Amino acid sequence: MSAAGTSEGKVVLVTGGSRGIGAGIVRRFAADGHRVVVVYRSDRDAAERLAGELSDGSGRCIAVQADIADAAAVDRLVATTVETFGGLDVVVNCAGVGTYRKLGEMDTAYVRAIFDANVLGTVLVTQAALPHLPSPGGRIINVASALAFRPIPSSTVYSASKAAVVTLTHGFAKELGGRGITVNAVAPGVIETDMTRTILQERGEQILSMTPLGRIGQPDDIAGIVAFLASAEAGWITGRTIVADGGVT
Ligand SMILES: NC(=O)c1ccc[n+]([C@@H]2O[C@H](COP(=O)([O-])OP(=O)(O)OC[C@H]3O[C@@H](n4cnc5c(N)ncnc54)[C@H](OP(=O)(O)O)[C@@H]3O)[C@@H](O)[C@H]2O)c1
Repeated sequence: MSAAGTSEGKVVLVTGGSRGIGAGIVRRFAADGHRVVVVYRSDRDAAERLAGELSDGSGRCIAVQADIADAAAVDRLVATTVETFGGLDVVVNCAGVGTYRKLGEMDTAYVRAIFDANVLGTVLVTQAALPHLPSPGGRIINVASALAFRPIPSSTVYSASKAAVVTLTHGFAKELGGRGITVNAVAPGVIETDMTRTILQERGEQILSMTPLGRIGQPDDIAGIVAFLASAEAGWITGRTIVADGGVT
C-alpha cells in the first residue's frame, strides 16, 4: 500500500521536473491522479508555473528547489516532500546534464559537472528517499540514455555517466529486492527538449532517417514507460533498463 495513502494517489518525486522529459513525466503522473513534487535547480519560474497549472489550487503538485549533487539540499527536498504529503512512494531520477566534448577539450570541471548531476545526484536522491519508500511497493525509476550503450564521438563522458546509471539501477535493484522495492531505468534515444535543440538543428534529418518509427521522440514517449514502471503491473520487473529510441538500436 502507498505510504501516503491510496485515496489521493501516490506521492511521486521527479527530479528535473521543470522542463523537458521530466516535465512530461510530471504531467503524466498528475493526469493519472498522483501528487507530484516538481524538483528544479535553477528554473524556478518554469517549475512553479507547471506545479501551479497542474495543481489548479489543490496543492497536489509543488515545486521544490534542490541541487541534486548537494546532499544537504537533497535531505531538505525529501523532508519537505514528506512533511507536505505525508510520505513518498515513487522516485524518478530524471535530472541530468548532457553536454558533449571531445577528449582534447575535456577538463576537470566538465567531467565533474556531468558525474555530479548524473551519478552522484542519482545516488543522493535515492539514498535520501529510501527510508520513506513503502516496503513492499516502493518504486525507483532512473533516466539513463541509449548513448550508454552506443557512445558517439564527444558523448563519451556523458555516455559513461549514463552507463553508471544503468549499473546503479541493476545493483540497487539487487540490494532493495528483499524490501519489495523495484529499481528500473529508461534509456531514451534522442528526445526533443532543450538538451537536444542544437543536435536536432545540426543532424535532425539524419537522426530521423535512422529512426525506424519515422519521427523524433517526444517527452510523452518516455513518460508512459515511466508510468508503467511505477505501476503495480510492473511489480515483477526490477534491475532492468528499457531502451526507448524509436528502434534506432
Ligand atoms: N533529451 C534527450 O534526447 C535525452 C536522451 C537520453 C537521456 N536523456 C536524459 O533525460 C533526462 C532529462 O533530459 P532533458 O532532455 O529533459 O534535459 P533538459 O531539458 O536539459 O532538462 C534537464 C533538467 O535537469 C535539471 N538538472 C540538471 N542538473 C541538475 C542538478 N544538479 N540538480 C537538480 N536538477 C538538475 C534541470 O533543472 P533546471 O532547469 O532547473 O536547472 C532540468 O530540469 C536527463 O537525465 C538526460 O540525460 C535525455
